[in-house]
Amino acid sequence: MISYGKQSIDQSDIDAVIEVLQGDWLTQGPSVNTFENDLQNYFGAKYACAVSNGTAALHLAALTLGWQPNDIVITSPLTFLATANCIVYAGATPDFVDIDSISYTIDPNKVEEKVKYYRSIGKNVKAIIGIDFAGHPCDWKALREIADKYSLQLVNDNCHALGALYLGDKQYAVKYADVVTHSYHPVKHITTGEGGAVLTNDPVIDEKIRRLRTHGMTKDPNQLEKNDGSWYYEMHEVGYNYRITGFQCALGSSQLKKLDSFVQKRNAIAKKYNESFSNYDNLKIPKTHSSVDHAYHLYPLQIDFDKLFLTKSEFFENMKESGITLQVHYIPVHLQPYYQRNYNFKSGDYPVAEDFYAREVSLPIYPDLSNDDQEKVIENLTHHINA
Ligand SMILES: Cc1ncc(COP(=O)(O)O)c(C=O)c1O
Repeated sequence: MISYGKQSIDQSDIDAVIEVLQGDWLTQGPSVNTFENDLQNYFGAKYACAVSNGTAALHLAALTLGWQPNDIVITSPLTFLATANCIVYAGATPDFVDIDSISYTIDPNKVEEKVKYYRSIGKNVKAIIGIDFAGHPCDWKALREIADKYSLQLVNDNCHALGALYLGDKQYAVKYADVVTHSYHPVKHITTGEGGAVLTNDPVIDEKIRRLRTHGMTKDPNQLEKNDGSWYYEMHEVGYNYRITGFQCALGSSQLKKLDSFVQKRNAIAKKYNESFSNYDNLKIPKTHSSVDHAYHLYPLQIDFDKLFLTKSEFFENMKESGITLQVHYIPVHLQPYYQRNYNFKSGDYPVAEDFYAREVSLPIYPDLSNDDQEKVIENLTHHINA
């Protein structure tokens, strides 16, 4: 079965994990610091805190930025549930802004309209979470300008875009956003099994993220109310166990060395799909703004099912029978029953995202996808849409 995404693990990854398994520290040891340093170097961040998964990274970001009930936080409806859920975890109010029809990332013009609307009714937006959807960075320059103009916090849920370039810069994420979150789930660019990180240039944010990652505990002599001895710790706020293990971090460091080559391979696969599909009237290949070098976490193809007399569900089943498991990214979050029931969102609220959802299929794309398997995907897809 060919799936839409998959990890790429070689002997050097396996050796790195085994080395930690044979050592003294399965967790809380030196390989965690090494991975964090590697992340700082690659992404140009002053601080990186590795955590148990990308959802935990978002949760800690929301708590650290101090989102409270009555705070409105805006994000894109075209994302994984976790991006919006972190707003709910913090007790704040989620709202959405529709996507740009080329990049499928949050539309900055509509963000500003929404911020102004809330101001006009006496409410304040606290933060924006942009998602670098599929590996295409948001218009971060515009989002930063809005954030500065209206004193908003800016978060980059950067899970899809590791290794992407924005304005020629691979280290763009922490330059524009106050907080950047990663996930290292196996379908992502690099994996630690489960895992994630929070990156920032702000020492106060990093310190709080680190404290909340481990139960809110501190041993920092500057923060202790008293000090009974070297074992002594205090808790001043409630935190979690969102730690990641040492062997996962060893895998992360090993994977990070290959990130550039992974992104190159993904780009080669995307190029071949683009060439194969660009002449079909009923197919729309993903477009890229000129400011961006895409990282292709996903290859979102849009198919005009209305013109094909074939439903998306039938198409999925046909492809599955041919040994190809596709995915859809994403069901717009505002259409989820939870969000409709609790926040009164409804179908029609974000038409660009909804139209995209109706057409989108995510085709297999990962570094180890063989040429033959990609040919099989292309042949089957073009066969089913021509049948
Ligand atoms: C955009 C986005 N945000 C957050 C997450 C959550 O990451 P994790 O699965 O590591 O908790 C994901 C992962 O699927 C994601 O794609």
